[in-house]
Amino acid sequence: MEEYQYFVPAARGLESLAAGELKSIGARDVQVQTGGVAFRGPLETGYRANLWLRTGVRVLLLLREFHLSNADDLYHQALDIPWETWFDLNKTFAVHANVRDSVLRHSHYVALKVKDAVADRFRRVCKQRPNVNTASPDISINVYLKANWGQLYLDMSGESLHRRGYRSEKGAAPLNEALAAGMLMLAGYTGKQPLIDPMCGSGTLPIEAALIARQIAPGLLRSNFAFQHWRNFDGRLWQSITEEARRRQLSAAPAPILGSDIDHQVLEAARANAERAGVLQDIQFEKHAFHEIRPVGARGILICNPPYGERLGSQASLADLYKTIGSVLKRRFKGYTAYIFTGSRQLARHIGLKPTRRFVLYNGPIECRYLRFTL
Ligand SMILES: C[S@@+](CC[C@H](N)C(=O)[O-])C[C@H]1O[C@@H](n2cnc3c(N)ncnc32)[C@H](O)[C@@H]1O
Repeated sequence: MEEYQYFVPAARGLESLAAGELKSIGARDVQVQTGGVAFRGPLETGYRANLWLRTGVRVLLLLREFHLSNADDLYHQALDIPWETWFDLNKTFAVHANVRDSVLRHSHYVALKVKDAVADRFRRVCKQRPNVNTASPDISINVYLKANWGQLYLDMSGESLHRRGYRSEKGAAPLNEALAAGMLMLAGYTGKQPLIDPMCGSGTLPIEAALIARQIAPGLLRSNFAFQHWRNFDGRLWQSITEEARRRQLSAAPAPILGSDIDHQVLEAARANAERAGVLQDIQFEKHAFHEIRPVGARGILICNPPYGERLGSQASLADLYKTIGSVLKRRFKGYTAYIFTGSRQLARHIGLKPTRRFVLYNGPIECRYLRFTL
């Protein structure tokens, strides 16, 4: 069976979790690198990665690595790849370039060079060329240039894997789904402990928790992956691994999952999102202000993403909220482990409890703290 080299980009702070996920689906030579994880395996491992990854952004299949000293080198390397064996003329394609400290500095120009090479290759071999569609291409080609080193990848995923497809209703400042899954995994959440998110907004954390608890592969919620447009797409293999994933699902979450928020409108959105994800039955959504919340069961996990003033509220009016968080945790949540995710270190100090662990995570470009409090 042919083996391929892959790369999964992941948000900073989540790379090791993505590596753990990849090992658990049988990936070989798993290596954590800056900004993601490299691994090896047959096409089946690539399919499984797309189906199961909770923390990765996309799955890229490496076609070629090379030295380059100028744009001609890049063009000829790209021209030499038998693109016509990977996709048909009737598929649309797009090229995305990532350029860092490279001999070629402009990513737009780099993408254009590779696009020309792909089109020229098709013209040479097939007498015609496929169309470009930058908005929603069937086939995505990624080029990475660093110093005088180049890599050409085919993107197996297409749309980013964090877009599970359940969240068309957003609260005011929703978490990225892959980040939410990563936060749950960093907290050691397995689905067997009670879980509370007392500021759940659009429900991302409780929904990702329910997916973990019921062992639902997040890829089952999507209907389109780029690899399904490839010439070598093995529909039978995909069907068999998706059916196997469906058989592994539990019919209900083994422990309570509670999502609450002060705003009834965002709770409506959260319920609609949970329904689309097929996990509404697993989550209790309730309207409460933070100071009203109580534990469900013993030794659970509380995870919370309070507003931190970047997008919601002002720092001054939020200080009281963070004080309330600290006092409620201390008074009512003995035996629980609490995790607070915030982009404001100043506000975090108002919690008034000493974190037992600090993680640095990124909410898009915003550097955030994810603080553990053992109560
Ligand atoms: C940053 S958002 C959470 C986003 C959520 N993690 C998501 O993915 O959609 C903060 C949430 O805290 C809620 N909130 C603000 N003050 C609150 C309070 N005193 N009690 C409960 N919820 C509160 C807001 O309504 C908002 O939905």
